[in-house]
Amino acid sequence: MTQMRDGFQSRIGFVLAAAGAAVGLGNIWGFPTQAANHGGGAFLLVYFIVIFLLALPALYTELYLGHKAQANPVKALASAWQHKEKKIGAAAGYIGLAGAIVMLSFYSIVAGWMLSYAIEPVASFLGFNALSSFLQSDSMLRNFVFTPLMVLLTASIILKGVKSGIETWSRRLMPILLILLIGLIVYIATLDGAAEGFAAYLVPDFSQILDPNLIIAAMGQAFFSLSLGVGCMMIYGSYLKPNANLPKLTISVALLDTAVAFLAGLLIIPAIYVAQHNGVEVFNNGKLIGEGQLIFAILPALFNTMGEIGLLVGLLFFVLMSIASVTSTISSTEIPVAFLVENHEVNRTKATWIVSAVVFLSASIIIVNFDWLFGLVIMVFTQYQLPLMGLFYFITLGWMFKRGSKLHETAHGAHYWFAQYIRFVCPILMTLVFANVAFG
Ligand code: ALA
Repeated sequence: MTQMRDGFQSRIGFVLAAAGAAVGLGNIWGFPTQAANHGGGAFLLVYFIVIFLLALPALYTELYLGHKAQANPVKALASAWQHKEKKIGAAAGYIGLAGAIVMLSFYSIVAGWMLSYAIEPVASFLGFNALSSFLQSDSMLRNFVFTPLMVLLTASIILKGVKSGIETWSRRLMPILLILLIGLIVYIATLDGAAEGFAAYLVPDFSQILDPNLIIAAMGQAFFSLSLGVGCMMIYGSYLKPNANLPKLTISVALLDTAVAFLAGLLIIPAIYVAQHNGVEVFNNGKLIGEGQLIFAILPALFNTMGEIGLLVGLLFFVLMSIASVTSTISSTEIPVAFLVENHEVNRTKATWIVSAVVFLSASIIIVNFDWLFGLVIMVFTQYQLPLMGLFYFITLGWMFKRGSKLHETAHGAHYWFAQYIRFVCPILMTLVFANVAFG
């Protein structure tokens, strides 16, 4: 007897889970940093264009491939290619799977930092000064404490399954994340210096708008932010009911993710200017003083200048970052777990522990070789894996899809033209951007 596959129970449950996968450190850290370094409003404008022209169709493509197959990315891609070419599809599925593990490895390290910074204000408030210094230290020991904690936190949700774990926790955590984000924006907006930040963020510096670096940065950011290119959205799409309205869901998820990125800018960029107003060194030659500095130097320095209330603001901010992290790590963990369950008949509990152990092991390799490996892994992942896999998915759906009719053969009216857009325009745009990244 075949077992019923677990899945999302409601439309809102899916939207919150997929938006949770999408909303993460990329939105709250990456997006405002890129915006601050690339002409503020100019980056915002290009980002919106890239989301609309490329990331939205890519999100639809991934959801569609998973939804049609009702299976993990290895199976979904193998069945999309079928016959002799099945192996090509499956191979891409495996590359995505490896990408998910790699992403989890570096992401869990960074998410661990968020967790340790969320505990630090409590330690500081209680007067545990040695603990507080440890929590803020850059030490290997701290990584070896907090990375596994993050992996365990993720595993505890994944163990419960899609409906009772991923959906339930996304429904709980995403509203908290939105409330924290909006509350922090309102508070920072009342501080001196914030107005300058709003202007820098919202008024485009048009001289930067055609800068290829800005366009590439916006594309990388959009793909990372929507969790495209590793199969997160494919696996979540596969848990949708067969009669789900994919175009509507795609738009809801992209809108929510983009709205959170936009809101994060409204928080972080004014916060940078408030910090500058309070005497914290923020810019060097018009650029932020190092990407990592924003979260772990500029903002803590800002919170320090606020006195007692700064402890609470710091606590809430890093709780926000921790929530954003965990709703993203669960989606990437679900890909290899579903693969082990569906392709190798491993039970879910065992599969979760195997994947968690592999992630921890590969994160440990990065921790031990941090200085040269951490940045390299992130660069290869975001600049090569994500766009190349995005291109592959477009080609799969636009040209190879052999599981039933091809998209453009069944579509009419606007859907027909959208299908043609995915077949012709998206692969060309994607190739152009990638060529610029690789050879530009
Ligand atoms: N999409 C997730 C983020 O933006 C991975 O952090």
